[in-house]
Amino acid sequence: MPLVTMRQLLDEAAAGGYGVAAFNVNNLEQIQGIMEAAQETQSPVIVQASRGARKYAGDHFLYHMMLAAAETYPDIPVALHQDHGNSPQTCKSAIELGFTSVMMDGSLGEDAKTPLSFEDNVSVTKEVVDMAHAVGVTVEGELGTLGGMEDGVGSGEICLTDPAQAEEFVERTGVDALAVAIGTSHGAYKFSREPDGDILAMEIIEDIHRRLPDTHIVMHGSSSVPADIVERVKAAGGEVDAGFGVPISAIQRGIEHGVRKVNIDTDGRLAITAFMREHFRDEPDDWDPRGPGKAARAGQKFICMQRMQELGMAGHAGDYEPLSLAQMTERYAAGVRSTV
Ligand code: G3H
Ligand code: 13P
Ligand code: ZN
Repeated sequence: MPLVTMRQLLDEAAAGGYGVAAFNVNNLEQIQGIMEAAQETQSPVIVQASRGARKYAGDHFLYHMMLAAAETYPDIPVALHQDHGNSPQTCKSAIELGFTSVMMDGSLGEDAKTPLSFEDNVSVTKEVVDMAHAVGVTVEGELGTLGGMEDGVGSGEICLTDPAQAEEFVERTGVDALAVAIGTSHGAYKFSREPDGDILAMEIIEDIHRRLPDTHIVMHGSSSVPADIVERVKAAGGEVDAGFGVPISAIQRGIEHGVRKVNIDTDGRLAITAFMREHFRDEPDDWDPRGPGKAARAGQKFICMQRMQELGMAGHAGDYEPLSLAQMTERYAAGVRSTV
């Protein structure tokens, strides 16, 4: 099946009461690991690429690997999403390349570091919504800022989302999905203790969902940073400064209150690192790159299998027929938003 829009995946998830994981990718093994897990669990899935990923793999390599994934697994609905677009130009280039969904992260300026004003965020996000919806592509916006810095992305400061502002933001921009800041950060170090309501503000999600029941909420920085995986990395000679991640129970609570997209990058990275380090440790005479490559693929798949079950997306791949970008274009033009 062709690449599907994220709007349809999230609408279906809302109707079915589950969440869809959005896994970050940079290379072939990550894409294959995700798709193998999606096939085995029969899950629809979002595959997302940051600007850093596009630069690392190269736009055409990345896009064509994703086309190969869709061709190899014709029964699995897959959306290809631009993660943390820093400008309309980045989103435009993703759309021209063939991405079916883009994030305009106007919570930060083009340097992906300096917080942007509410008005500037509205203006830059609206510009992307107009451009993307004109060709049927889904748009995610962000209000509030996450903590942490990854590959130069992030202000380092947490600024929680104001639910009243979220209402105005969605109204004025017309985004399909809204990323919210509830205290999480990107990377392996999110919390210094098991998070409770003081440091992970799940009630913000509940408030936003009450105000905007038809807007799909996105949780960024949602890796759980599994302690056993971190231990495996360390036992195999690695060093990783890891704290506590987002508990699966918190993600599940979010899903009960309108969270439909759950961003997971770090957990995949950690599992790949553990599996590859163990491979090199246990098979020191292996100098065939396929050995560590297979370990990487298995690491990514291991995490995806778990999350697909935990988020409830497993078993939903065959629930619906994909709408084309042309059909989505017509629907947006007619003012129809939901696909269900
Ligand atoms: O937004 C953060 C994601 O984890 C992507 O990270 O920019 O290092 O590819 P990256
Ligand atoms: P993690 O670092 O928690 O995996 O978050 C990933 C993310 O939010 C990508 O946009
Ligand atoms: Zn993010």
